[in-house]
Amino acid sequence: MSEYDVIVIGGGPAGYPCAIRAGQHKLKVACIDEWRNKDGSYAFGGTCLNAGCIPSKVMLESSELVHRAQHEFAVHGIKVGKIDVDLAAMQKRRAQIVKQSTLGIAALLKGAGVTALQGHGKLLSGNRVEFTGKDGKQEILSARHVVLAAGSQPTPLKSLPFDGKRIVDSWGALEFDQVPVRLGVIGAGVIGLELGSVWRRLGSEVVVLEALDSFLPMTDGAVSKEALKHFKKLGLDIRLGAKVGGAQQSAQGITLQYTDAKGEQSVIVDKVVVAIGRRPYSQDLFEEGSGVRLDERGCVEVDDECRTGAPGIWAVGDLVRGPMLAHKGKEEGVMVADLIAGKVAEVNYKTIPSVIYSTPEIAWVGRTEEEVKRSGRPYKVGSFPFMASGRARAMEAGVGFCKLISARDDDEILGVHIIGPMAGELIAEAVLALEYSASTEDLQRTMHAHPTLSEALHEAALSADKIAIDFP
Ligand code: NAI
Repeated sequence: MSEYDVIVIGGGPAGYPCAIRAGQHKLKVACIDEWRNKDGSYAFGGTCLNAGCIPSKVMLESSELVHRAQHEFAVHGIKVGKIDVDLAAMQKRRAQIVKQSTLGIAALLKGAGVTALQGHGKLLSGNRVEFTGKDGKQEILSARHVVLAAGSQPTPLKSLPFDGKRIVDSWGALEFDQVPVRLGVIGAGVIGLELGSVWRRLGSEVVVLEALDSFLPMTDGAVSKEALKHFKKLGLDIRLGAKVGGAQQSAQGITLQYTDAKGEQSVIVDKVVVAIGRRPYSQDLFEEGSGVRLDERGCVEVDDECRTGAPGIWAVGDLVRGPMLAHKGKEEGVMVADLIAGKVAEVNYKTIPSVIYSTPEIAWVGRTEEEVKRSGRPYKVGSFPFMASGRARAMEAGVGFCKLISARDDDEILGVHIIGPMAGELIAEAVLALEYSASTEDLQRTMHAHPTLSEALHEAALSADKIAIDFP
């Protein structure tokens, strides 16, 4: 029986950083991963690298370029004629970038001295792990510590089961080989909006059916209002309060049936992306008696330090409570490796940034104005529109704003919400400010290079005390 200090089950964005950090601590580590691509090949990196964060950003970038060439180049005085999209070439680039990234993970694991095992891992009692390799051979491994990092999978809609061709999940929707004429998206969450934007820009008519009456309810109210305006401008037909109940397939397409305030409705599309959420992937991950428990939502139960309660068994990433975000999983994985090595480590769950990679981008950290209002703590708000930023206008991206909410009593920054160009990059400064418990005055006194988009946060901080320079 092979013995390790640490076995990590799952080589996605939570698992592989855990294995690498444990390797950096000179522990004997194995990382098991069973991800299979559609051609049957194995790959490290999990959903994020193979089928989520990375390939979706590739497609968002390519489709955004098409959109800009069609709608923006002329404003700059650039004449390009008719734009042709070679979807096969675009998809080839996506596949190459993904492959490069996943090979990179395998190299990083090797560099950290981690034994990379491709196949299925299952936690048994007594800190043992059953490993089933590519060839079907089983081996029992043991470890002082086992970290479960098996991730999540798309939640299916009972009335509209995935068929991999016309009714697809987010992975399938990244790999269409033709631009759908009419695309239905179920769920106006992050996945639905990102993928809906990609195919809209490439020419699809996109209808997004969202069960809730509110749009992006997790975002600050002003941001969600602004975001809806931009998604509509892009041409997404977003129908709120529309709960999809069933579908019928025919030669004409797929008829999606939904109910809204007016009653029964339907819409015909050619392809459907079901993006109604993701659920933890714990199938065949541990045996009864291993001491691991699931909560009512199917998450592995853990404490703040990702301990499951069973001695030496930890769980991180999408498998456990909290937002399903790669960077949150990464920090948990690294924390667990550090704790195993006897170091001090923690994850600050109050400063997790969120980003929606739309155009304009949406990013936030901390609390929304609505949450702060509900808390009863007196607060002040500062904001700055990108229209007043010379750099944003030069980029033909003077849309959206940066909004900062801080406490009136001690000036603490409570939340930052950005909708605008490069919001996902700009939010990093706000995350650092919250991490260091910065005051609004700290941000006000920090020099920002001119002309940059980052000045928006500076001006928003000044605006909270009504001393902004570049906007009244
Ligand atoms: P989500 O939970 O964000 O959104 C799903 C939406 O579907 C909800 O608004 C829900 O009301 C709606 N819905 C559910 N059933 C419905 C029905 N029958 N008819 C109509 N609407 C229905 O889930 P999503 O977008 O699938 O994403 C899954 C996870 O992946 C999330 O945790 C998300 O944060 C994460 N993710 C994050 C990304 C990022 O950070 N940029 C990108 C992609 C995913």
